[in-house]
Amino acid sequence: MIVDTHAHLNTPDFHDDLDEVLARARQFGVTKTIVIGMNESANHQAIEMARNHDMLFASVGVHPADVDHETTAHLKHLVREKEVVAIGECGIDLYWRKDNLDTQRRVFIEQIELAVQTGLPLIIHTRNSFPEAYACLLPYRGRVKGVFHCFSAGLDDARRALDLGFHIGIGGPVTFPKSYELTRVVRETDLSWLLVETDSPYLAPHPYRGKRNEPGYTIHVATAIAAIKGISVEEVARQTTHNAHQLFQLGGNKT
Ligand code: NI
Repeated sequence: MIVDTHAHLNTPDFHDDLDEVLARARQFGVTKTIVIGMNESANHQAIEMARNHDMLFASVGVHPADVDHETTAHLKHLVREKEVVAIGECGIDLYWRKDNLDTQRRVFIEQIELAVQTGLPLIIHTRNSFPEAYACLLPYRGRVKGVFHCFSAGLDDARRALDLGFHIGIGGPVTFPKSYELTRVVRETDLSWLLVETDSPYLAPHPYRGKRNEPGYTIHVATAIAAIKGISVEEVARQTTHNAHQLFQLGGNKT
């Protein structure tokens, strides 16, 4: 059993063959997947998909790429839905844009506060922006939990994330041949703080790199982690599934 903790199944890429994608995921042992919202319409779609499929759960948030034309006002209603297990993805992205950092920061902090109020975990996106996101979270240390999804920062930042009490989400890049720093992060981080994910349809693992990603490919991420840590893939699956169930309360909320 494996949980894909991060998939954008609510994008047009999966419009035509979602049922086949989910059937393939189950064949690979991926029994639960969290569908990630990024804006109001994608958030509604994520909840709708979770309602229609037992194996799907929803996360609702406003992504840093959407902060100029979206607000967080709608989230306070959506977080009450029983399919919603997290807030996000949210965070800060300084790869695409730096000029609206103040807005990114404000919208991220609004979602941190909502996480504190609701007790829901945060699913955090950072890109070239770990220090900025960390600075937003630090005042809330001990009152909020979550995951830095598709972690791409270095070992020092991984330790800061762990010190905040956050998990580290590992995605397809761990299977790439030159992922030296991420390999170090995986090796040095206790398995009880790792989650596995795909970020479908993006970031497909080797040998699907450049193609559409899908939840079943989480098995390749788990296999890479097992190789780095010198343990069995079953052990990686068992522990990361346990971690995901603990953090997101999967199963309890929906049924
Ligand atoms: Ni994502």
